[in-house]
Amino acid sequence: MSHPLFSPFQLRSVIFPNRIGVSSMCQYSSQDGFATDWHLVHLGARAQGGAGLVMVEASAVTPEGRISDGDLGIWKDEHVPALARIAGFLHSQGARAGIQLAHAGRKGSMTVPFRGERLLLPQDGGWQPLAPSPLAFSSNYAVPQALDQDGINATIEAFRQAGHRAVKAGFDVVEIHAAHGYLLHQFLSPLANQRTDSYGGSFENRTRLVLEVVDAVRAEWPAHLPLFVRISATDWAEGGVSGDGSSSQGSHVGWTPDESVKLAALFREHGVDLVDVSSGGQIPNAKIPVGPGFQVGFAARIRTEAAIPTAAVGLITQPAQADSIIESGQADLVLLAREFLRDPYWAVHAAAALDDSASWPVQYIRAAPQHSATRAPVTRPEPA
Ligand SMILES: Cc1cc2nc3c(=O)[nH]c(=O)nc-3n(C[C@H](O)[C@H](O)[C@H](O)COP(=O)(O)O)c2cc1C
Repeated sequence: MSHPLFSPFQLRSVIFPNRIGVSSMCQYSSQDGFATDWHLVHLGARAQGGAGLVMVEASAVTPEGRISDGDLGIWKDEHVPALARIAGFLHSQGARAGIQLAHAGRKGSMTVPFRGERLLLPQDGGWQPLAPSPLAFSSNYAVPQALDQDGINATIEAFRQAGHRAVKAGFDVVEIHAAHGYLLHQFLSPLANQRTDSYGGSFENRTRLVLEVVDAVRAEWPAHLPLFVRISATDWAEGGVSGDGSSSQGSHVGWTPDESVKLAALFREHGVDLVDVSSGGQIPNAKIPVGPGFQVGFAARIRTEAAIPTAAVGLITQPAQADSIIESGQADLVLLAREFLRDPYWAVHAAAALDDSASWPVQYIRAAPQHSATRAPVTRPEPA
């Protein structure tokens, strides 16, 4: 029996063998931005486990665009070979390889979460975070420096160059990270962007930077390969909140689902192929109605109203749930994060649960259900 979850999906010339993707997940396991054996084994295992798309974590386009000093990076050419090795292995398992290009903005210069998530001070290797406006995320974070026009130009250029390196590394997909309260989302939201120049105020001004970044990356990224953007569809602050997330009168209203639909339609016109729809992250203590598939409705709305393919993410854990998201046309891909940490083989297990045929790595076939196909390692030409 063939389920929509296991049907192929094509964007530009890239064919995803199924609709299941590993969502980007920071591993905080790099030094100076370099990918390590951890990344190869971690991501590689999930490709062995049958995911059709494996997204490499948020990869900083500049050193000061890192969340922490353990973040992965793509800000220099020296980063490319280790990334190319990962992309090559993902391909060898039949998965498509993606990478997320990121700038943390005001959420930067922190210690890695499993070492306390404190502000990384200059004497410990910390840096001055950059943002649209000098507004700290919370009292635990640094007050960022507002980017001037030169800084904005340099940021766009850094994204462009990172896109170029992603081509060199052989990825099939790049995703621009404009969600979760990081730099590009900070420009979108009045909660973080209080500029009075052409990058602040109106919808057109707040969306200017992300569209300039999209244009720069799209110009660099080959025409036959798809470009994704991840957004937070809402700040969960439509009613108006103050900077610390508490409700208060006369305060700023956050980024809204209506604006997300409008922006997604612009993305389509600018050559974006898929919007990866998440939410939140702009303010601490936002009231988020977390539950199974709680963000899927945003992906569905954007897909219908902006007429652009979407990926759904957020508490998608069950095979039937994932299959029905695809079958009902709410999204074109499902991305799973924590469930893939629990089970790297979620995709082949989901196929077994749905009584569908999954292809197991040929080396593992003696452990696979009887009707499973084998997946011989594919060798692909090394990237130029
Ligand atoms: C360990 C960890 C690291 C994450 N790092 C990233 C990241 O690099 N980029 C990103 O867009 N989201 C990141 N996220 C968010 C996930 O991609 C995903 O959107 C979120 O966890 C909800 O999906 P889930 O319910 O399947 O876990 C991270 C989540 C986790 C658990």
